[in-house]
This record gives sequence, structure tokens and C-alpha cells, in this order.
Amino acid sequence: MSVLELKSIIKNYPDGQLVNEVLKDISFTVEKGEFAAIVGPSGAGKSTLLTIMGALLTPSSGSVLLNGHDISHLSKKQQTELRLNEIGFIFQNSDLIPYLKISDQLKFIQKISKKETGNAEEVLTKLGLQNRLHSYPNVLSGGEKQRVAIARAFINQPDLILADEPTASLDSKRGREVVQIIQQTVHQEDKAAVMVTHDERVLDLVDSIWQIEDGRLKKVR
Ligand SMILES: Nc1ncnc2c1ncn2[C@@H]1O[C@H](COP(=O)(O)OP(=O)(O)OP(=O)(O)O)[C@@H](O)[C@H]1O
Ligand SMILES: [Mg+2]
Repeated sequence: MSVLELKSIIKNYPDGQLVNEVLKDISFTVEKGEFAAIVGPSGAGKSTLLTIMGALLTPSSGSVLLNGHDISHLSKKQQTELRLNEIGFIFQNSDLIPYLKISDQLKFIQKISKKETGNAEEVLTKLGLQNRLHSYPNVLSGGEKQRVAIARAFINQPDLILADEPTASLDSKRGREVVQIIQQTVHQEDKAAVMVTHDERVLDLVDSIWQIEDGRLKKVR
């Protein structure tokens, strides 16, 4: 069974008198232990697709199955709980909470989650942040912040990781390291991950590549 399966997803946005059909009949799957990339030109609908995968946005039609359960028609409350427990997000700008120390960024998530979770210090140490546990985000480099964002996405041991251009604010060396960390975690812990990226140089690290163009998605590797 796939961790995530999209079936015939359509997403329209109203555009004045017209409708902008951003996603046109999209189907997609990602399995346990698989790291998938989505590439495509700016405005093609990559972020829209990722937010639908993460139950942050409802499709106009079609279904989103997480571990076989349709999540596209859950209540807001159920969707929030699902995001907290089953899905980890990594965004382009890692949006850390400025007044929380690094270790507390993770503990905050653990506190509001009802799930049995990993050990915050252990996860941060694994990502090379052991001497940053008690720092505030403003003193961290871009790469360190991004590693905290990864740690935060993984702390509740979600089945699915979604990353929207996680390397965008990093130089190519740091960017590659960040993608390697996602790759290793996916493979070692048998998770599924979907990453949107512009960076062709990291595509050797993923297991499958999908291209989106004119609202249509096709598997290219
Ligand atoms: N909330 C919204 N309301 C109306 N139109 C939207 C909305 N969000 C996105 N769009 C439109 O949907 C299209 C796809 O946007 P999206 O952000 O998914 O593209 P993207 O592939 O992530 O682009 P980029 O690579 O620049 O991040 C664009 O034409 C955008 O203007
Ligand atoms: Mg985008």
C-alpha cells in the first residue's frame, strides 16, 4: 500500500470571470522508503500540489489517500490533528519561532501532539546541532535553521515528509547536505518523502522524479 496516493486531483482557482485550472487530473503515489522529487517551471502548481498532499488545501475534485484513508474530506480539526501526527512539513523559509530555543522548537510540537514522539535532543544531535540546543534561531546560519526545520518535521515520527524547496535559501553544498539528511532518514526509518525542488544537482539523491507542466504531472524517472 502506498503511503500517499493522489487520484485524479483537479484544482481550480477563480480568476476574475474565468477559472484558472492549476492542476488537471493529477495522479501520484509514493511508497514507504521512497524519496520522490517534483520539478517544473515557476507557477506550474508545485506548491499547490504539495499543500493538497498535506491537507492544507482541499482539491476541487479527486481524492488524497494517506495510508489508504481518504483525507481530502476530513473536518478542519481532523486535518490539523493529521498534520501534527502523520505529516512533517519543511518549507523554503524554515519559519522557526523566534522566541523559542532550538530544543524548545521541537518540544513545543511534542507538547501539542498526542502521539508518542522521539527524543528532541537525540534528533537534533543526529543532525549535528548538539551545541545549538539552547540557542535562539537568530544566531543560526541558514543551513542550521534548515536542519532544525528538518528535525522539527521528523520529531513526531510522521509517515510522510513534505518539503517545498528546502534548499532554496542555501548554497549548493549546504543544500545538498540538507537533501542528504532527508534521504538518509527516509531510507533508514522507512518513511516516505516528497520534495519540490528547482535544484537539478540534488536529483541524484531521490528515488523518483515527477515533472509538472501545464497542470499535468508525469513520472520521468
Ligand atoms: N491562493 C491562490 N489563489 C489564486 N491563484 C493561486 C493561489 N495560489 C496559487 N495560485 C496560482 O496557481 C498557480 C500555481 O501556483 P504555485 O504556487 O502552486 O506554483 P509553483 O509551481 O509552486 O511556483 P514556484 O516555483 O514559483 O514556487 C499560479 O498561477 C498561481 O498564481
Ligand atoms: Mg512554489
